[in-house]
Order: sequence, then structure tokens, then C-alpha cells
Amino acid sequence: MSAFINNHYDKLLIFVNFQITLIMITWLLLLLVCHLTCGYFYKELDRSFKHKLAQQYSPKGNSKTDFDVRSKQYQVVKNVVWFNQPYWTQDTIPLGDAFFSKCAVKSCKLVPTTSSTIKSSDAVIFHAVNLPDVSPPKRHPKQTWIFFGLEPPFHYKSRVWASNDWFNLFNWTMTYRFDSDIVHPYSVSRNRELKGFKRSYGDIIKLKTGLIAWSVSNCETRGKRRQYVKQLQDYFQVDIYGKCGTFPCRKKCFEEINKKYKFYLAFENSFCKDYITEKFFRTQNLDVVAIVRGGGDYSRFYPPGTYINTADFSSVRELAIYLQYLDENDAAYSEYLHKKSLFISGDNIRKIAFCEMCRKLHDINVYGRTISNISDWLNTCFEPPDLEAYTTDESELQRQYIDVIASKKKNKPILQIDY
Ligand SMILES: *[C@@H]1O[C@H](CO)[C@@H](O)[C@H](O)[C@H]1NC(C)=O
Ligand SMILES: *[C@@H]1O[C@H](CO)[C@@H](O)[C@H](O)[C@H]1NC(C)=O
Repeated sequence: MSAFINNHYDKLLIFVNFQITLIMITWLLLLLVCHLTCGYFYKELDRSFKHKLAQQYSPKGNSKTDFDVRSKQYQVVKNVVWFNQPYWTQDTIPLGDAFFSKCAVKSCKLVPTTSSTIKSSDAVIFHAVNLPDVSPPKRHPKQTWIFFGLEPPFHYKSRVWASNDWFNLFNWTMTYRFDSDIVHPYSVSRNRELKGFKRSYGDIIKLKTGLIAWSVSNCETRGKRRQYVKQLQDYFQVDIYGKCGTFPCRKKCFEEINKKYKFYLAFENSFCKDYITEKFFRTQNLDVVAIVRGGGDYSRFYPPGTYINTADFSSVRELAIYLQYLDENDAAYSEYLHKKSLFISGDNIRKIAFCEMCRKLHDINVYGRTISNISDWLNTCFEPPDLEAYTTDESELQRQYIDVIASKKKNKPILQIDY
């Protein structure tokens, strides 16, 4: 009797062991497959901002650089002064040297603006957007003059810098453009720390009773975004918050938009090279998909599938077809939410840019130059490329529809416009 039980018991044990081994082998296989393919998948998505200048700043103060920060030349303190300091930098860019403490090259100091510091500092920053109507100050020959402005060119309140008096004087530009001497975009993205980050996209989508929201205070702009929105309104209701619409944008306006809508129109006021503002970056941190329209290359900051670019569609109608497709397919829509949640837009950009400035001031032999005609350099804006009249030809409309759905199923952009 007992032998019988033992025999069965052994068989059972062998069976259980076999099962456990099978499960473990399956797991190992899965892990191996994932190691080979998931790694590739994540590498594909690892597109956070890796511009050289980001290496020169680290929140922990241990930046990795391709130059030797201990060498003597980087220890000499460079004084920097604002010629006219924008009021919004008074909190965010404090005077002194603490601001540079997380830079690879830390030996820089922002000194208070006086006529003598303007004469003696190593660098003078001119906030060109508000440059007062005065003659250029006296300079010592080794001084670096920095043309600073974060607005698109026609939003400069001052054009004093365009006059002959200021011709041939500036050494560097510091703007959102990637061909600036010191690049200062509106924000940068980085990989989100996913530990403890949870989202239930089904629940999020359930609360979204509206489709498209837009918050705007500048109604008529060079980019004619309002005209584009009007065409979009032929297909969908667009709820417009703020001065140009009927929905008031109070304190919690973005909370409401985040909860209630699937899409948000992050349309820039003008089409200018590299001009991508916080409209985009702010939306990327929310659970709403940004529809972007502007002159910048968004893929420098975020991978495809984390936003929708109007430039990928040859007409408003094509965009509308695609939005409807996403509205009706929760899986496809939540894929956008998921992908964008892997990234976050940071606010360290001022420090990153000023670190770059500090480093370059210590390498002036390499980076020294003079810009002769600054208005010529600034002039990189263009007319909106997407506001042609739309077709009413039925077979053409049918063709567009088939192309849009087919290309989206293959997850390919329909049309890439290169600026
Ligand atoms: C900056 O520009 C001025 C004016 O053209 C020039 O004299 C000076 O050499 C330039 N400085 C550097 C470091 O290139
Ligand atoms: C500077 O460039 C602008 C725009 O291209 C042009 O209109 C202007 O004549 C130029 N100025 C000089 C002094 O060359």
C-alpha cells in the first residue's frame, strides 16, 4: 500500500518538477527573446535629447565631457553681464556663480549691470527683443557680445539691433535655433523614471468626452493657425479656450483639457526654423495627444508616435480622417499615450544653455567670430505651407481616404515635409 502511494507520489513529484522546469525554460526563452528584441524596441524609443550641450550640465554635478575640465584654462573665472536683463530671468537666472555649479565648466559669474561691469566683463548679453534705443556701449577688445532672444523674429519689440550702428558687433547668437552659437530651446525631453509610474489608459480614455481642444490668446497670427482650425471645424467640434474662443481658460484650464480631451492643438504662431515652444513641451507631459503645426523639427525632441504633426498630412481632410480613426480605435490611441509617457520634458534648459556659454567663453580661440548682419541671420521664417483650397473631386477624396488608412496601418508617416 505504502509502496503504491510512494510510487504515485514520486510520479507526481516528477510531473510537478517537469512542469516547473517547463515553465522555467519558457521564461528563460521569453527573457532571451525579449533581451534580443525588447532591447531593440527600447533603443528605438530612446530618443531623448542628446545634443552635445546636454552633456555639459548634470543635475548631480558630475557631467561627462569630451574635454578635460580640470585643465587650467577652465579655472579662470569669466564675468558675464546683462546689458539689459529680461525681467523673467531675475528669478530663474540669479546673479553670482551658484547658477553654474552643476556645469562641467563652473568658472563663470553673472555680475550686476553697471557701466563699469559692461565695460570690463568678459561677455555682455544683449536681450535683443527689448534692446533700448541707445548706441552700442564701449567695449574692451576681448569682450564677447551675445545676441540673446527667444522670440520668433517679428515678435521682437525692438529692431534697434538691425540698424547700421549695431552692424558687425555681435559675436554670438543665443536663441532657440540649433544653428545658434549657444542653443537655448524652449525645453528638452528625457526618459521618464518609470519606477512607480502607472497609468490605466482605459480609465483615462473613458473620461474623455471631448475630442479636440485648443487654448489660444493670440487670435490672428502669421502662421494663420486660426484658418487651419476653421477648416478642421468642418469635420469636428474644436473647443477653443481663452481669448479667441468661447471656453474661459481659468486657473485649472489645462487640468480640464487633460481630463476631457483626446487631442490638443499645439499650433505655433508662426513657421520659423526650429521654432517649437512650450505649447508642445507642456502638452507632452499630459495625457492628451498633441497635434503640432510649426516650422521646427519635432523629431529632434520626441520619437514618432508620441505626437501628430499636421505636416505629415497633405490636407486638413487627411488629418481629420486619421483623427477619426484614432477616436474609434482605443488601442491605437492609447499607444500614443503610452509612448509619450516614456518621456518627460524638463525645465533645466536655461542651465544647460548657460553651461554651454560658460564653456565656450573658456574656449574663445576656437569659438570667436563676428556676425556681420544679424537681421540676415534671423530671417528664417516662412509662409504656412498647408493652406491650399481643398479638393471636392470625389475619386481624389476616396484615394486620400484609402492612402491615409493604409499608411497608418503600416504606421508610416503619410508625407514627410522637410523644411
Ligand atoms: C567679437 O567681435 C568684435 C567686433 O567685430 C571683434 O573685434 C572681436 O575680435 C570678436 N571677438 C571674438 C572673440 O571673436
Ligand atoms: C542685412 O540683411 C538684411 C536682410 O537680409 C538686408 O535687408 C540688409 O540690407 C542687410 N544690411 C546690410 C548693411 O548689409
